[in-house]
Amino acid sequence: MVLVTGGAGYIGSHTCISLHEAGFDFVIFDNLCNSSQESLARVEKIIGKKIPFYRGDIRNKQDLQNVFDTHKIDSVIHFAGLKAVGESVEQPLHYYDNNVNGTLVLCQVMQEYNCKKIVFSSSATVYGDPHTTPIKEDFPLSATNPYGRTKLFIEEILRDLYICDNEWKIILLRYFNPVGAHKSGLIGEDPNGIPNNLMPFISQTAVQKREFLNIFGDDYDTHDGTGVRDYIHVVDLAQGHVKALHNIDKIQNVLSVNLGTGNGYSVLDMVRAFEKASNKKIPYKIAPRRTGDVAKCFADPSYAFEVLGWRAEKGIDEMCEDSWRWQSQNPNGYSRD
Ligand code: NAD
Ligand code: WQD
Repeated sequence: MVLVTGGAGYIGSHTCISLHEAGFDFVIFDNLCNSSQESLARVEKIIGKKIPFYRGDIRNKQDLQNVFDTHKIDSVIHFAGLKAVGESVEQPLHYYDNNVNGTLVLCQVMQEYNCKKIVFSSSATVYGDPHTTPIKEDFPLSATNPYGRTKLFIEEILRDLYICDNEWKIILLRYFNPVGAHKSGLIGEDPNGIPNNLMPFISQTAVQKREFLNIFGDDYDTHDGTGVRDYIHVVDLAQGHVKALHNIDKIQNVLSVNLGTGNGYSVLDMVRAFEKASNKKIPYKIAPRRTGDVAKCFADPSYAFEVLGWRAEKGIDEMCEDSWRWQSQNPNGYSRD
């Protein structure tokens, strides 16, 4: 049985479907601080099966022990965490407590129950401002904000855990920029309030929830002056977790793996692709650069293929078509408020 912390969230909900398709049994643990019961109902509808769900907080030992007492958990996919960069600058202690302390408590409980396999949601943010692209896993690590530092610290904590006990099997998946949604249009990204990330902002502009998109800077050293990122379809990302579980028993040492496509697209490339997919105009204005943004960030994804046999299959058009289907069918997301 796989424990999926944060399984009601954006990436977690898509991963649950891939786990089901691959024949894994799993249980979801989430405090719903950034998700809703409705996403779970939708996942159950897609897979045609009830999913064991525990509402609880990873910082609460008893909440977790309750799950480990009820199910024989062999491995954990650990998505639970807070992820808003700006909020992390405003509330660093809350981020360190939730993400770092939460992971410590989770690992303590895992150790207690002799469950020593974990796949952790890390991020390309651990590369800070990379000196060059494409980014390989052995590039220097740094952070530019408290959120990024929680990922960096957790990676270090997990490495220490392995050093003290080599029985641990630990895979750190460093996601680039997840976008898109499940083909059904039933589940997708549902940010609370005004979206921070590009794709939900574009899709909310397309359904006229937002008047126009602000493009943060057009004077970067990129092919059209706007920021370049490695957007990856969330279903490809979900599949990466299945591959991680398939390979976790054979890994030596802590494995850090980039999950990206290797393609860098600019903000304007994304706007054009979304316009094509949705047949809607996306009004935009050029705005000042956003503090902390880097010009270019995209992966060298070759190591993921080498060690996990995984590579991304979906391109930019499919990412935009699937994001659009989700947004147009659910203009208010899961309507959790
Ligand atoms: P999300 O907010 O949709 O999902 C995270 C889930 O964790 C939510 O359902 C939330 O309710 C839950 N959660 C948070 N704190 C918890 C706690 N203390 N106890 C129990 N549940 C808790 O975010 P997502 O986009 O699905 O991201 C999943 C993971 O991937 C996060 O760790 C995030 O940092 C990481 N990540 C995300 C991105 C991205 O751009 N979406 C990129 C890189 C890494
Ligand atoms: C993408 C590009 C913006 C919004 C963030 C986190 C990172 C990771 C993923 C979790 C950039 C531009 C954006 C807008 C814009 N999260 N943009 N107008 O910044 O690459 O990564 O999310 O780990 O840690 O930092 O993603 O989607 O915010 O921005 O012009 O309204 O779109 O400047 O070039 P980012 P993003």
